[in-house]
Amino acid sequence: MSSLWRETSKSEPRERLQGEIKTDTAVIGAGLCGILTAYELTRRGIDCVVLEADRIGSGVTGDTTAKITAQHGLIYGRLISQFGKEQAAQYAAANSLAIGRYRRIIESNSIDCDFSEQPNYVYTLEDTEKIENEVKAAKDLEIDAEYVAETTLPFPVKAAVRFNNQASFHPLKFLYSLAENLTVYENTRVVNVEDHTVTTDSGSVEAQKVVFACHYPFINVPGYYFLRMHQQRSYVIALEGADLVDGMYRDENSDGLSLRNYNNFLIFSKGDHRTGKNEKGGFYRTLEEKAAELYPGCRVAYRWSAQDAQSEDMVPYIGKYSATTPDWFVATGFNKWGMTTSMVSSVILSDMIEGRFSPYSEVFSPQRFKPAAGAMKFAQDVKEAAVNLFKQGFTLPDAKLNDVQPNEARIVEHEEAKVGVYKDPGGNVHMINTRCSHLGCQLAWNADDLAWECPCHGSRFDIEGKVLNGPAIKDVSITEN
Ligand SMILES: Cc1cc2nc3c(=O)[nH]c(=O)nc-3n(C[C@H](O)[C@H](O)[C@H](O)COP(=O)(O)OP(=O)(O)OC[C@H]3O[C@@H](n4cnc5c(N)ncnc54)[C@H](O)[C@@H]3O)c2cc1C
Ligand code: FES
Repeated sequence: MSSLWRETSKSEPRERLQGEIKTDTAVIGAGLCGILTAYELTRRGIDCVVLEADRIGSGVTGDTTAKITAQHGLIYGRLISQFGKEQAAQYAAANSLAIGRYRRIIESNSIDCDFSEQPNYVYTLEDTEKIENEVKAAKDLEIDAEYVAETTLPFPVKAAVRFNNQASFHPLKFLYSLAENLTVYENTRVVNVEDHTVTTDSGSVEAQKVVFACHYPFINVPGYYFLRMHQQRSYVIALEGADLVDGMYRDENSDGLSLRNYNNFLIFSKGDHRTGKNEKGGFYRTLEEKAAELYPGCRVAYRWSAQDAQSEDMVPYIGKYSATTPDWFVATGFNKWGMTTSMVSSVILSDMIEGRFSPYSEVFSPQRFKPAAGAMKFAQDVKEAAVNLFKQGFTLPDAKLNDVQPNEARIVEHEEAKVGVYKDPGGNVHMINTRCSHLGCQLAWNADDLAWECPCHGSRFDIEGKVLNGPAIKDVSITEN
């Protein structure tokens, strides 16, 4: 089943890139970040094209919960102690201003995307002190925040922080509409970038500047983003017949609930796991049991899952891709808060591309991370090691295949190779090479999503080995005899 957003919106297909073209800026990725950045650049008179491996909005943006808020968990107390008050204030101001920018873009372009202003709450079931501290930190940063002792949720909470004047919308209606006047090439996967040449699987682009808005950067060296981010996967359901909420809610505990309305649906989510760590499954079941307990008689209308890149310090990387690539830019590591941080990225990156001072850029600078020399050598070694052991015409003996039951997946060893075997309910066998095509880690099965996942940096592949999510850009398919 796909997301509520995908089921209730559509976009016209775009052409694939053919041949060689030239532009001022090539933006890689047509998710929220790429489209907002291309929109802002175009608005400022900079010529740009967007290159999208699949369709517009086919990534995380189509599977989000789409709360537009500067309240990213209980973050502000931690930001002040970790980055200092000045940089914490940059983070707060940039994300708060992003909400107003949405309002202005939606109004000035008459975008019909169900944008609705409402408060956002982060609550706790445990300890009022952490809420008190967060309210104080937020007020110190001039955020319109309040301590709340009670909410209208169908269970008691200890306390909550309320941020006023936040918002929600339908992310794909917004995205498709904003992309209408932009040049976007779909089904065009970028496979390499060298200096100013962006090579895709169907053509190439010469660009003065390149923006990596592809969710998880796939150029490993320089940049070393794979050393600083992993991915966390969450499961979401949209309920009919459940009581609606009077705002947007999130438990401060990452195992807790997230709730918001969309029309008469309650969008309900709970917990997450590191991508590649869900071999037994059960996340949808837990979610549906919790929904039935809180809202007896409710019906699951849609269910879906998605993942986001998590930076080590929980602050996104927005800015120069690396110190040695002055014309490459990146926005990644949104930590499941990419609605406002995509907007922040579009402004910071447009300022940088225009050579203007950006008042909010320091806290997000990717150059705050310095990989150790040993880690850099490791990266090169692993890169060399990630070769495909499989030749064309690989066969797995029947005896080994018979061990796998219908509706089961297993990793089977044969001739020094590890093969991921999934037998579907009809008994058909689907095989993949379990060595991730990104940097060679061992893939693991996700029993909820029927997909192969990499625990290292979160690449995902379907049962035939086709890339579902990067940073991998090559499939892990096996051609049988
Ligand atoms: C379950 C869940 C709930 C969330 N809820 C919220 C929320 O309520 N509020 C909030 O602020 N954030 C939320 N987030 C986070 C938010 O959805 C994401 O941070 C945001 O959508 C990321 O946008 P993006 O443009 O960076 O990535 P994407 O939408 O993934 O776009 C990247 C695009 O790049 C393309 N691409 C990748 N590689 C290549 C390549 N080599 N060549 C060409 N194209 C390529 C992909 O196909 C994709 O379309 C949530 C995330 C999850 C997982
Ligand atoms: S995603 Fe990096 S090794 Fe698999």
